[in-house]
Amino acid sequence: MKIVATLSELRAARAVLPEPVGFVPTMGFLHAGHISLVKAAKKDCRGVAASIFVNPAQFGPNEDLAKYPRDLPRDLSMLEAEGVDLVWTPTPEVVYPPGYQTWVTVEKLAAGLEGDSRPGHFRGVATVVAKLFNAVQPQKAYFGQKDAQQAAVVRRMAKDLDFPVEIVICPTLREPDGLAMSSRNTYLDPEQRKAATVLFKALSAAQSLHGRCERDAEALRRIMRETIQAEPLAKLQYVSCADYDTLEELTTVSGKALLSMAVYVGKTRLIDNFVIG
Ligand code: PAJ
Repeated sequence: MKIVATLSELRAARAVLPEPVGFVPTMGFLHAGHISLVKAAKKDCRGVAASIFVNPAQFGPNEDLAKYPRDLPRDLSMLEAEGVDLVWTPTPEVVYPPGYQTWVTVEKLAAGLEGDSRPGHFRGVATVVAKLFNAVQPQKAYFGQKDAQQAAVVRRMAKDLDFPVEIVICPTLREPDGLAMSSRNTYLDPEQRKAATVLFKALSAAQSLHGRCERDAEALRRIMRETIQAEPLAKLQYVSCADYDTLEELTTVSGKALLSMAVYVGKTRLIDNFVIG
């Protein structure tokens, strides 16, 4: 496995990878969810590249950039064990050299939901993913359904900017009790960790209500809201029942819909979603 930091090293190592090249961008502190993307890439592609970069541009001023968990040696050994060919670990100066001032903004899809709660977040995501795609030039790139709006924003950006890459969205990996795997779960103490299952419970409650033929989107939002509010350690930021394609809030659920939410458990912000219909 080749590990490179600079853009010129990355380009040289990329040039000799067998194609098609599959690419898995990450912010590190890898868990089984990230590894499921790597396994999907290994299955589809002859060459597999990953990146580890905690992208400052997608963190707000009051977010967890400085304390975002990092363990590069462990990440590299996990990627090596999966047979990854190339890992890019750029520094912020490599991605955003002095004088940097070019940004990619996806308009409607990046507004609402996470975009409302985290202003500038998707500008940072779309910009870094565009730069990573330009550098790595993959034929396929793998993202998780866990970050549903990110997946939609990336898909739109790649299409709008004519990147010759197929975006593959992989299912959310969960702990046995339903909690979606996330690098941020390590912030939770044991009591908070138990309380964090409330996101899965709320989504499951709404899914089963939909299964009993409830089509009123507000009723689905209400049961999610009430489930979260019943957990004393959880503080709801938003719940949503939105159109799967446009991410616009629904009145009536008729086709495919995205149930999603952001919840604080202590100081840790957790997100999760289910697709229904
Ligand atoms: P990060 O949070 O490290 O996630 C990297 C990829 O792993 C994303 O596509 C994310 O959706 C996926 N992922 C995370 N948890 C998952 C889970 N439980 N099951 C399946 N997939 C999961 O998302 C980012 O980094 C960044 O925004 C990035 C795209 C790298 C741009 O900086």
